Amino acid sequence: MESIDRIKAHYSFTAGDEKNLVSLKPVMEKYRDNFVVEFYHYVKNFEDAHKFLKDEATVKRHQDALKVWFIKLFNGDYGPRYLSELEKVGMAHVKINLHAHYVNAAFHFVKQYVHGVLIKEITNVDERVYMERSFEKILDINLDVFTSSFIEEEKKFFLSQKFESYLIQFANRFSHGLNIILVLGLVLLGVMVMGLFGYDLIHILDSGDLEKGLLSTLGSLLMLWVVIELMDTEIKHLKGGKFAIKVFISVALVAMIRKILVTSLKTGEVEAQLSLIAGVAVLGVIYWLIAKVD
Ligand code: HEM
Repeated sequence: MESIDRIKAHYSFTAGDEKNLVSLKPVMEKYRDNFVVEFYHYVKNFEDAHKFLKDEATVKRHQDALKVWFIKLFNGDYGPRYLSELEKVGMAHVKINLHAHYVNAAFHFVKQYVHGVLIKEITNVDERVYMERSFEKILDINLDVFTSSFIEEEKKFFLSQKFESYLIQFANRFSHGLNIILVLGLVLLGVMVMGLFGYDLIHILDSGDLEKGLLSTLGSLLMLWVVIELMDTEIKHLKGGKFAIKVFISVALVAMIRKILVTSLKTGEVEAQLSLIAGVAVLGVIYWLIAKVD
């Protein structure tokens, strides 16, 4: 961890900068509430913002915390306590898995916002440039500390960072390989089900039992549908789509429906059929619930 003095030295942050920032405090206090309003207008455009700022209570806490953070930029007290407060904020963002890019973009907004305020409030160009330079330094220091929190989190390892990164890379490739084998297996299965479908069709003609023949052909068609569904899901998954649990429920549903078709041909299996129908009803409800959540 860097010390605040070293960080300040790397940004050439001087006592003059500290004085400039303190002199800006009364001006910035006027803009404190407006800053948060504008900040939220800006952040609202980030696609996933609602996932992090997920309810009113979180938004309220964040807005209050932002006001405090904004004013502290102009407090003039940039010692070790200030650094540890910034580290805490950085860690708060890391903990919720906030994209580092969002924080950078938000800082860009802060820079633009304060630039606008300074143009409005300070007419003397030289003075304004001087003030702006001091402000940019403290803002960059803040961003530096926030970014370090993300880097610190990435640096976590158990034995060796290099070994773990190789291991993760290997596991990634291996899992991709397994997925490819799965696709090949599904292709093979599809071919076999098509064979079964052909066999069932021929069987209708041979046996002359139209009802039995049609039902088993329908059964093999359902199996073909399942294979197509599974293959489709797997391809989407390989292309980076999210894991679709729904497809497993639909596979179980189809398997049960096929079983009902088969048992319907046999007399005296009412109990088995009733339990299958109950199973289909339960799976149907689960399928519906998952589809609704999706
Ligand atoms: C200039 C950029 C930002 C600053 C200065 C900032 C400041 C803060 C502060 C001071 C806290 C309180 C930390 C604590 O509990 O100690 C916080 C937490 C948080 N920030 Fe930010 N933030 C920034 C950007 C963002 C962005 C872009 C998002 C989301 C899109 C975000 C979402 C959150 C959330 C969800 C929390 C936790 C709130 C809670 O549950 O209490 N922040 N932030």
